[in-house]
Amino acid sequence: MAEKQQPDVLVVLGTGGTIAGLSGAAGDNVGYAAGQVAVASLVQGAQAAIRDSWKIESEQVAQIDSKDMEVGVWRSLLARCRHHLSRPEVGAIVVTHGTDTLEETAYFLWRSLPAALIDAKPLVLTGAMRPASSQAADGPQNLRDAMALAVDPGSRGVVVSFAGQVHSALSVRKTHSYRLDAFDSGERGPLGWIEEGQVRWSRPAQVDQPAGRDLSDRAFEQAAWPRVELVHSLACSDGAIVDALLAQRVHAGRPLAGIVVAGTGNGTVHQALEAALARASQAGVAVLRTTRCADGPVLLRSDDRFPAASGLSPVKARIELMLELLPATA
Ligand code: SIN
Repeated sequence: MAEKQQPDVLVVLGTGGTIAGLSGAAGDNVGYAAGQVAVASLVQGAQAAIRDSWKIESEQVAQIDSKDMEVGVWRSLLARCRHHLSRPEVGAIVVTHGTDTLEETAYFLWRSLPAALIDAKPLVLTGAMRPASSQAADGPQNLRDAMALAVDPGSRGVVVSFAGQVHSALSVRKTHSYRLDAFDSGERGPLGWIEEGQVRWSRPAQVDQPAGRDLSDRAFEQAAWPRVELVHSLACSDGAIVDALLAQRVHAGRPLAGIVVAGTGNGTVHQALEAALARASQAGVAVLRTTRCADGPVLLRSDDRFPAASGLSPVKARIELMLELLPATA
């Protein structure tokens, strides 16, 4: 009987970001344009980061500043990830991405890719805080670390490699606007560290990986991607923002499908905002609570008016609700 082929291809997908950014002056780490350098150039010379037995392929999926992330880019990225992960010769994927919405894309991919695929083949996202043109760019090391992590036998699911740390898609968040170690995992802590091309795990990567939602190509092709807005409960909130959303229920042809509220403390909501959210709910808009606290769950109470996304940050809860409201057409 012929021996089963061991996967030996690592695919690097480029989407832009600071890691591919260029500034006019090498000393300028702030005034640059993101998404300028081709991913093929970024991976040149990075092969040394992984064992010789691996071949690297690269593909440019997008070339954007990730603050401008669009559903169309997510759609292409998800399709290319599904395609490559289904190839028997591919063992892992690295995605280069801007840092600003990296945690959202990581969460989106984790919840949308078939669990069977990402359980067997890891997907690692990385980026950089300084542009490729910087005198002290962090992108090359971050990419080398991400590639070493991707081919590590302990890697599973969707993870983020940044500044020598490994974070799960569930926990990762950008916490600093400038420093090179701009990401953390909050109270869960990192999944591990990458040191000189070796991964040191703090716990098994799969612990944080429940089944993905397995978003079919067909479901994702829906033109009407659910519109979900995010509001915050604040001191002196008055609910006007929710009433304004209801008054203009359809924006650019897209009806308001859901509202995530980043509540105070244990997901509590100012009474005036809560009354406005009740009006939204009565009008058929899905309401989901989370907390604006950086860490900690939302613990359920018997008098809760709206369901809660416990343990999810507001931006990830928004993605969760979008996916939940996506028509099931699979
Ligand atoms: C971006 O998110 O694309 C720009 C900022 C960055 O990558 O750090």
